Amino acid sequence: MACAAHPGLVGLFGQPYLDLAPFVEASGLDALHEEICLALAQIPLDCTGGSHRSMGIMPEERRAEALVDYQEVIRAMNDAEFETFRSLSDDPRSIDPAARAATEFGEERAVALSRRQMQWLKIRYGVYFPWKGYVELIPNRRWEDKSSAEGKSFTRVARAFFPKTLAFVAELPFVHVGRCNVMGLESLDHGTVHRDGDPAEQEEPDHFITFVPGANKRLFLWDDVAKVEVDVPARVYWFNDFDYHGVRADPHFRYSVRVDGVFRPEFLERLEATFGGQAQRNG
Ligand SMILES: [Fe+2]
Repeated sequence: MACAAHPGLVGLFGQPYLDLAPFVEASGLDALHEEICLALAQIPLDCTGGSHRSMGIMPEERRAEALVDYQEVIRAMNDAEFETFRSLSDDPRSIDPAARAATEFGEERAVALSRRQMQWLKIRYGVYFPWKGYVELIPNRRWEDKSSAEGKSFTRVARAFFPKTLAFVAELPFVHVGRCNVMGLESLDHGTVHRDGDPAEQEEPDHFITFVPGANKRLFLWDDVAKVEVDVPARVYWFNDFDYHGVRADPHFRYSVRVDGVFRPEFLERLEATFGGQAQRNG
């Protein structure tokens, strides 16, 4: 473990997370907040999360906080319910009811959920989607492709509603960007504690930057050895997403923007010079 103060975190450069505000031009974040709030009021918002427990990416003692998980709900449907679920797909013919036992649905699974399916799962079954203010500015189908820019671009909606945000992202220290999402949570919702990979399998930390223009989202890391939450109070940050992380509930909407890609070597060198270590490698 690389993070001395927190035995259950791998961290980055010996830190639980890195506050990147000194390393990026952050003076425009207030203007970005105005742009993003106005955009989110005008465009369709998607849901994400909602199956972290069935994905097996939550710490044992926090699994109940996922509430109603859609993969568990879909598996428990009778044939008539499953037929309704199938009919709400964007392409019902792509779903074979006879193969349902072997089919997984949703993010990172073989068959993505349509917006109508997510709404029905939420409304009829009480599925809990932690992020109901989700917007893909650069669509990305598979998690492992998120750092690659191949065949990807910002959507037309992103270009029309988020021009300042896109200009800010273009100035971030990436060689290229492969994924860029707005992650919004409704009032009182919490982001379920999960990790995006298993530290035992990590070769090097994924490169990404999250920024919180509204400075009002309370991300924390979960030290699964000490069993404590570690606050990430920064407005622009990078953390090791192979460490468990979640978002505390607050009585208001809030969002962050996550940008994945490949960092420029000179940026990593600056971080290394500043924090005096090496990016954590296992094995
Ligand atoms: Fe995550």
